Amino acid sequence: MNGSTWSWRSWAAMATCVAGLTASFFGEATITPALADAETFRANCAKCHSRAATIARQIKGDTVDQRKAQLDTFLATHHAEDPAVRERVVTYLMTLTAK
Ligand code: HEC
Repeated sequence: MNGSTWSWRSWAAMATCVAGLTASFFGEATITPALADAETFRANCAKCHSRAATIARQIKGDTVDQRKAQLDTFLATHHAEDPAVRERVVTYLMTLTAK
């Protein structure tokens, strides 16, 4: 009885992890949030965009908030339909544009 509760919980935790963290094969314990963001970009975007800095410069908006909103809207229909993936990629690209 205890066992089944556990397996459900750990399955849910696993699913959350896989959805949010495409790089989970590295193991949760060793991956930092910033590295996970970069990995998410690599896994979802790098096959077409080899240089993240190049697209980061094309994001329109005067403030970080404007650029975030613009990018979030764009990515919802551009290879990042999953909000968890989008959040990581947006965070990552913002670190490249923040001055
Ligand atoms: C299958 C190839 C492909 C993948 C995967 C892809 N892109 Fe793109 N992306 C393109 C192409 C082609 C363009 C240029 C034409 C266009 O605007 O659609 C582009 C344009 C862009 C632009 C510029 C939009 C503008 O305003 O000019 C951004 C930003 C961008 N991609 C971000 C991303 C991010 C972030 C990811 C990962 C979640 C991603 N892309 C995944 C092919 C891809």
